[in-house]
Amino acid sequence: MKEEMGLVWVVAMALMLQSCHVWSGSSNLYPVVLVPGSGGNQLEGRLTEAYRPSSLVCRRWDHGRWFRLWFDPSVIVGPLTKCFAERMTLYYDPALDDYRNAPGVETRVPYFGSTQSLLYLDPHLKHITAYMAPLVESLEELGYIDGHNLFGAPYDFRYGLAAEGHPSRVGTQFLNNLKQLVENASSSNGGNPVIIVSHSLGGLFVLHLLNRTTPSWRNKFIKHFIALSAPWGGTVQEMLTFASGYTLGVPLVEPLLVRGEQRSSESNLWLLPSPKLFGRKPLVIAQNRSYSAFDMPEFLEDIGFKEGVYPYKARILPLMDRLIMPEVPVTCIIGSGIKTPETLFYGREGFDKQPDIIYGDGDGTVNMVSLLALESLWSNVTRQPFKVTKIPQVSHTSVLNDDLALREIVREITDINSRVLRSFV
Ligand SMILES: *[C@@H]1O[C@H](CO)[C@@H](O)[C@H](O)[C@H]1NC(C)=O
Ligand SMILES: *[C@@H]1O[C@H](CO)[C@@H](O)[C@H](O)[C@H]1NC(C)=O
Ligand SMILES: *[C@@H]1O[C@H](CO)[C@@H](O)[C@H](O)[C@H]1NC(C)=O
Ligand SMILES: *[C@@H]1O[C@H](CO)[C@@H](O)[C@H](O)[C@H]1NC(C)=O
Repeated sequence: MKEEMGLVWVVAMALMLQSCHVWSGSSNLYPVVLVPGSGGNQLEGRLTEAYRPSSLVCRRWDHGRWFRLWFDPSVIVGPLTKCFAERMTLYYDPALDDYRNAPGVETRVPYFGSTQSLLYLDPHLKHITAYMAPLVESLEELGYIDGHNLFGAPYDFRYGLAAEGHPSRVGTQFLNNLKQLVENASSSNGGNPVIIVSHSLGGLFVLHLLNRTTPSWRNKFIKHFIALSAPWGGTVQEMLTFASGYTLGVPLVEPLLVRGEQRSSESNLWLLPSPKLFGRKPLVIAQNRSYSAFDMPEFLEDIGFKEGVYPYKARILPLMDRLIMPEVPVTCIIGSGIKTPETLFYGREGFDKQPDIIYGDGDGTVNMVSLLALESLWSNVTRQPFKVTKIPQVSHTSVLNDDLALREIVREITDINSRVLRSFV
């Protein structure tokens, strides 16, 4: 009995100390919500009786049990790459006018609200799969604590959003959850508005969330939006992915084995180069013709992906034009000076063979014209506070771990926080 009381006392003290610590450490910081990029958080899968593996190798005996679908290192073993791809593949369902998972595959996003699934894509392989861990460590040094004033918004990055009039169940649900997370983060931090920090594709989701909220909501809940490496107008790299498959730098994977899965991803369609920004410049030069961003439907057809044409035209293209000013302060932090695919050349063998590439400026993945898209649209509009910070020799993902880039991000967040402190004294 006495011992139990002792234990209760110890726990109570620990809780008190913890809450004192939280109070003293975080009361002056605006809460931060992190929104990852494509492939930037773990995804879990579960197979049901309806799952029909394409081969014996892909059979699993653990029906009904959740397993990590992304990232799973077995993806690099030839036959298993195929199993991975078939479970990750999305299908456009014309009856629903929406995307859905493969039959018999259920998916879920673990740890919504926490940074936990953004730190490492595979917690058992921390060294090679670290994603936002270095950024989170830098934020912790400022006094940020996961679950108190630091939050994560992982999502099923295969899905995108759709233009008005078209359902997008998964993407819209994510925006609703993100909105609620922002509200919760604010109310558990004394009503302070939130700093949203996105990486890559996450920035597009955030921009669309902000457009779906009212000015008074944004005023109450959003302090600042920091977009890291955001591909506002898509990338030429994505045309390569659709035409020939792309292994995301994972060695040993045969690009054609993952091409079908990559083509099926709605968010990948969203990242094709936007006509508004890339204009009539030929981006792909094939044996028989060349393709600019305006020729995307023909391009999709000619590479052998005619299923993509309707969703692209109806759902995605009208969305690409909507880079709507949120009228909250926005800072874009981008890498530059890294060679980035700008024109792809396909020879006689067609699109199954990796192209010859001419490179231009960008962050290695996203072209400069896309990284700077908002600057060209917004920089002279007074009601849209806006800033771009370019960091030389930092790539699309090294913006999350390069020392110089981290220092820049931390400086920006410190700066935003010190503005309030000054206004209090
Ligand atoms: C927000 O807070 C409410 C009330 O505590 C909770 O029910 C809900 O799950 C939270 N939502 C998110 C997205 O954090
Ligand atoms: C979203 O953008 C559209 C197009 O500019 C605009 O008409 C609408 O008012 C925006 N929504 C909100 C809630 O600000
Ligand atoms: C180019 O066009 C010719 C004639 O229409 C066709 O036979 C050939 O397959 C095409 N080549 C490629 C690489 O698409
Ligand atoms: C913004 O205005 C300045 C001064 O008028 C001009 O030099 C600059 O080119 C403009 N920038 C953009 C992106 O329109």
